[in-house]
Amino acid sequence: MAARTPESFSQKGLKIGIIGCGYVGLPLALRFAETGHHVWGFDTDPAKVEKLNRGESYIKHISAEQIAKHVHARSFSATTDFAKLRDMDAVLICVPTPLDERREPDLSYVEDTARSIAPHLQADQLIILESTTYPGTTEELVLPILEKGGLRCPLESEHGAKSSTGQFFLAFSPEREDPGNKHFGLAQIPKVVGGVNSASGKAAANLYGQVVAKVVPVSSTRAAEMAKLLENIFRCVNIALVNELKLLCQRMGVDVWEVIDSAATKPFGFMPFYPGPGLGGHCIPVDPYYLSWKAREYDFATRFIELAGEINTSMPYHVVDAVTRALNEQRKSLKGSRILVLGVAYKKDIDDLRESPSLKLMQLLQEGGALVEYNDPYFPALHKMRHYDYSKMKSVPLDLATLASFDCVLVATDHSSYDYDMIVASSKLVVDTRNATRRVSKHHGKVVHC
Ligand SMILES: NC(=O)c1ccc[n+]([C@@H]2O[C@H](COP(=O)([O-])OP(=O)(O)OC[C@H]3O[C@@H](n4cnc5c(N)ncnc54)[C@H](O)[C@@H]3O)[C@@H](O)[C@H]2O)c1
Repeated sequence: MAARTPESFSQKGLKIGIIGCGYVGLPLALRFAETGHHVWGFDTDPAKVEKLNRGESYIKHISAEQIAKHVHARSFSATTDFAKLRDMDAVLICVPTPLDERREPDLSYVEDTARSIAPHLQADQLIILESTTYPGTTEELVLPILEKGGLRCPLESEHGAKSSTGQFFLAFSPEREDPGNKHFGLAQIPKVVGGVNSASGKAAANLYGQVVAKVVPVSSTRAAEMAKLLENIFRCVNIALVNELKLLCQRMGVDVWEVIDSAATKPFGFMPFYPGPGLGGHCIPVDPYYLSWKAREYDFATRFIELAGEINTSMPYHVVDAVTRALNEQRKSLKGSRILVLGVAYKKDIDDLRESPSLKLMQLLQEGGALVEYNDPYFPALHKMRHYDYSKMKSVPLDLATLASFDCVLVATDHSSYDYDMIVASSKLVVDTRNATRRVSKHHGKVVHC
């Protein structure tokens, strides 16, 4: 491409670099490849890069055929060589933004990525941060690191000021991908875009306009960063609300699932959220704390976030109490009982166990002296994680004899592939945290909802 301008980012045939080929980056890379661009996936994990270049997938809902098609057509390839960034027209950053040991934002991946771009940054290249983060990250953290490469991206307030050096474009656009969602894929989900200056915002809006149905421009990177956090905090707070109401309903002898389903018939002003064994996934249990951390800089306490966090983190403890009481009814103690946890993924039908409440449940059950095993069709074996070591555990088969050999079967994730009639019929006791057994007609008095 000749000189890059905001308008030129609406052309086909651009060279797009995607940094971080995970749940967010890989589908994005394939979408750009599908729409007539040349895409390079940059990742620090050589095993992932090799797999991608062989046309293989490591994410269940992304097929190997999709990847292989673009590798063979040379519209997609992966690399660990960040020097190739200099050839890109646009570079999109999709690296992790977890919490550290003190539950504070860990921006080391974003910082490392900005540092690896800086020496290769070219004039009029467009850099977009997609990772979820607190308002201010793009301008306060990413911008100064990138500018160390010698080029500038003036803030809107400085725009028009004479600059002796070349300039680049910088924007933030949050990713809203919901892995495994069959109704809304990347192309259908509107994309919020905010630039460090208006030229950057336009460049990013033009680029995304080619791959998504709708672009929603906002006035700043901070507004775009905050919009993503609002979406996830909204979910976190509402899940906490139904989790708390579930505890009250149980005490009152009211079926919370019936209550939610009936309330959801209201055609306006209500959106159903469902209780569960605790929060899971990379986003909802993590992202709200990015805002509460940043809010402290402004002497501001984000009380809704803290309260929701308190309620949601107490849910696995509540489930273990329910298992203990249900065993007690059968004259058994938790200590020494054999418990089968069904589902370790954080939600149904996906191969992702990040922050999964099942991991906490297994830990609490083991601490109570239970002998714990698990089944999950998406995880034949478990591995060592940051907070847990289940490296010796393998998924047990889900047959009649195995189910009957456990004192309690705990439904933690409601995978669609489970045969709940068979599970209830064969088990001595079922504790159901997801209302997964609602269609089982013969409960035989063995199912406890919690
Ligand atoms: N997974 C989701 O559903 C989802 C949805 C919306 C937003 N997000 C946000 O998107 C971001 C990415 O999440 P994800 O789920 O794709 O993470 P992921 O762990 O699946 O993928 C991240 C990838 O980045 C690579 N990586 C790490 N450091 C790198 C570096 N310095 N340079 C290049 N590659 C590097 C990793 O090897 C990995 O392949 C996070 O900020 C997350 O909060 C995730």
